[in-house]
This record gives sequence, C-alpha cells and structure tokens, in this order.
Amino acid sequence: MQPNEHLFPTDKIRGREAKEYLLKQKGIAVWMTGLSGSGKTTIAVALEKALAEKGILTQVLDGDNIRTGINSNLGFSATDRTENIRRIAEVARLFVHCGVVTICCFVSPTEKLRRTAKKIIGASDFVEVYIKTALAVCEERDVKGLYAKARKGEIKDFTGVDAVFETPLNPDLILVTRHLPVEESVDIILKKIFSK
Ligand code: ADX
Repeated sequence: MQPNEHLFPTDKIRGREAKEYLLKQKGIAVWMTGLSGSGKTTIAVALEKALAEKGILTQVLDGDNIRTGINSNLGFSATDRTENIRRIAEVARLFVHCGVVTICCFVSPTEKLRRTAKKIIGASDFVEVYIKTALAVCEERDVKGLYAKARKGEIKDFTGVDAVFETPLNPDLILVTRHLPVEESVDIILKKIFSK
C-alpha cells in the first residue's frame, strides 16, 4: 500500500477524511435560526470573513442562493417549509462531508424542522445558533418590506405575523443581538466551533 492510500484510494470516490486532509480543516454546519430580519445573514457574512482570515473555506447557504435556485418551486406552507429544510440539510451535509464550514441561515421556525436538519446533517456536525431578535425590532427594520405586506394581508403565513416561530428549546448558542455587536457574536460562534 502506498503512503496515504487509505486516504486517496485510486478506485473509489474520496471520503471525508481525505478531503479534510487536503483542506486542512474540518467540516461543520453552523445552523442559524431566527425570524426574518433577525440578522442571520449579517452574522454569517462576518463569520465567513473571520474564517477566511484564518484560511478556512466556508459556504453560506441562505434564501438568496437556495430559494432562488434549488428550492425555487417551494413556498411557505408547512409542507413546503419541511421540504425546503430537508433539501437544505442534505446540501449542507454534502458540503460538511467535503470539509467545508457550512453556514446555514434559515428561519426554520419549528423544533421539528430544526430537529430534521440536525438528524440529516448529524448531531456531531451541527451547531444550532438561535439569533434572538425581538419581532418588534425585525418588523421595525423590515429590510425587505415583507412585514408591512404581511400586516396588510398581502402575504400569508408570514413567520411572526400569522405563522408560528417556536423558540428553540435547546440551541447550542443563543445570540441576543440587542446586547451583542456582530463581531462579538462572531467570536462566540468561533469559540464554539473550534471547541468542537
Ligand atoms: S423557512 O421557514 O422555510 O426556513 P426561509 O429561511 O427559507 O424560511 O425563508 C425565509 C425568508 O423568505 C424570509 O427572510 C423572507 O425574506 C422571505 N419570506 C417570504 N415569505 C415568507 C413567509 N411567508 N414567511 C417567512 N419568510 C418569508
């Protein structure tokens, strides 16, 4: 057997260990849950920058690259949200098994959805981060104007307005954005993922 042949077999698809060895990093999923406008993507962008500065490869998955592409046929009914999260978790798992730090930013409003994601990705590769921002603050920001539309009844089943957001029961981290600047949130997440 050649040195490293168990990592780089010539006749098989390379496994996770080989990819992590090549990248010199370990894959993990950071799963951010929280209301629309709570700051998930803002924190993800800052986290990605901080990791890039350490030479760590990341992939952010969020509504912009998922709901416009692979999940463009899905809406916001309970059934569609379930399928949305299932597909995202499967995609995240592929990235994680490639050794990539995969940052997922999805409302994922129920315990059941978050449990599904954790089960698909695997508990040991999953860090659940609850981005805790009050509904009133998200609504005040209303970056995309969607809360206003939901209040007028122009959008139905809007999370926080006429669709439920269940408080995460047992997240690995709770980031209360009112008390934490983005950089501090990033530091807390970094500590958590490096300790894993
Ligand atoms: S999830 O519930 O299925 O996890 P996801 O994170 O993919 O939701 O998408 C949420 C984003 O879609 C929100 O940030 C918001 O911009 C937009 N959106 C459009 N309609 C809705 C809705 N009815 N409920 C929640 N978000 C919506």
